[in-house]
Amino acid sequence: MAESTPDLRALPKARAYDELLAHTRAVLEGISDPLAAMATMSALVHHGFGHLWTGFYRVAAPALLRVGPYQGTLGCLEIPFGKGVCGAAAKELRTVIVPDVHAFPGHITCDARSRSEIVVPVTGPDGALLAVFDIDSDRPHAFDEEDRTGLERLVAWFAEERG
Ligand code: SME
Repeated sequence: MAESTPDLRALPKARAYDELLAHTRAVLEGISDPLAAMATMSALVHHGFGHLWTGFYRVAAPALLRVGPYQGTLGCLEIPFGKGVCGAAAKELRTVIVPDVHAFPGHITCDARSRSEIVVPVTGPDGALLAVFDIDSDRPHAFDEEDRTGLERLVAWFAEERG
């Protein structure tokens, strides 16, 4: 049962994120490998909500993000801190919600269908940035405070166990 990918789209968001977290914990029970966890989380979030692009950029060098496990079309390979939405979230260590990517100066277009985006920083137990979790939607205004809360809970759980 835990191996399936539940469709969360019919649920109210708060409930969807509760289910997502419970399901992710069940699927990853006993697995401490951070790459396996990132790949699994990307698949569950991507297909659970029907997003356009879902995945991680990991800190690869000081002030440089490099693409990690993801679902979607080809993602750009490297993003310096401070560039685009991912780079802003990495530099400022805060979740960035972009309701309209066309209105975000410096947005990096990987898939032209992207209309809105959320990027959540992933920090380790010592507070250092490990990665960012980036999600793109083909719908404008797809992400709100409930997504921020739900995704921050998910990455906090990940970082506690595998950071
Ligand atoms: N749009 C992102 C780049 C990564 S892709 O969306 C996969 C940004 O502006 O940081």
